[in-house]
Amino acid sequence: MDPDQHAPDSHATGTDTVPDPIDHVERARLYPRVTSFRSRRGALTPAQQHNWETVWPIIGRDATDSPLDVHAWFGRTAPVIMEIGCGTGTSTAAMAQVEPQFDVLAVEVYKPGLAQLIGMIVREDIDNIRIVRGDAVAVLRDMIAPASLFGMRVFFPDPWPKARHHKRRLLQTGTLALIAQAVVDDAVVHIATDHAEYAEYIAEQLAEQDLLVPFDGEAPFSLDRPTTKFEGRADREGRPVTEFVLRRIPRDAA
Ligand SMILES: C[S@@+](CC[C@H](N)C(=O)[O-])C[C@H]1O[C@@H](n2cnc3c(N)ncnc32)[C@H](O)[C@@H]1O
Repeated sequence: MDPDQHAPDSHATGTDTVPDPIDHVERARLYPRVTSFRSRRGALTPAQQHNWETVWPIIGRDATDSPLDVHAWFGRTAPVIMEIGCGTGTSTAAMAQVEPQFDVLAVEVYKPGLAQLIGMIVREDIDNIRIVRGDAVAVLRDMIAPASLFGMRVFFPDPWPKARHHKRRLLQTGTLALIAQAVVDDAVVHIATDHAEYAEYIAEQLAEQDLLVPFDGEAPFSLDRPTTKFEGRADREGRPVTEFVLRRIPRDAA
């Protein structure tokens, strides 16, 4: 069964003509949605399997519908930056090491990717990363307290280039509203994509909301990303990367 055929997609495809009385966060809560990922299988190496059995129970957990006490999990109250779709964690590990004063909450569905990240965490003795395995939209909706995250990163989200798959794109108004709900006032949200048409789509989705606006000034955390394999390939293929650096409008001004 193709789940695409069963999703109410007027929101995602922008075909609504009637003003919607339900705000975007409530909408994301009420409506079933297609996911921005497809299940991918992949075997773990014996070393990764060992890490999964010994390290994952400490620094990782599967998504649930119960609120997450992030600071208790990290064992300190440092500002938390969430990264959605960390893949194999190249950026996650590098950026967490450069800024040990921040805690990084990585969310990803792909277990072999997370196994690679755990390998880096073990090898390089990184202690400021925790991982939730599951759909970041559900994690934002169910596990993350409002106004609890210091910042957000989304690097190279799957572009879903075919028009009939646009509804699968992660970055659309519903998710942007959940991100705006989860981050603190004035938080920075950093997005990068190497897909020109997805960049245009993201710009259109941003134009439909007013809680995340272009950021200018000095960001409170590093915007320098290491080059991941996605960015390396984009570079070789002559696809420029578009970055969105956004600021969450303070709640009393919204
Ligand atoms: C194109 S990859 C980019 C990975 C990484 N950010 C990088 O730059 O190398 C996109 C990743 O997002 C993950 N992903 C897609 N939708 C997701 C969702 N709703 N929740 C969590 N992860 C998701 C995919 O599994 C995939 O690993």
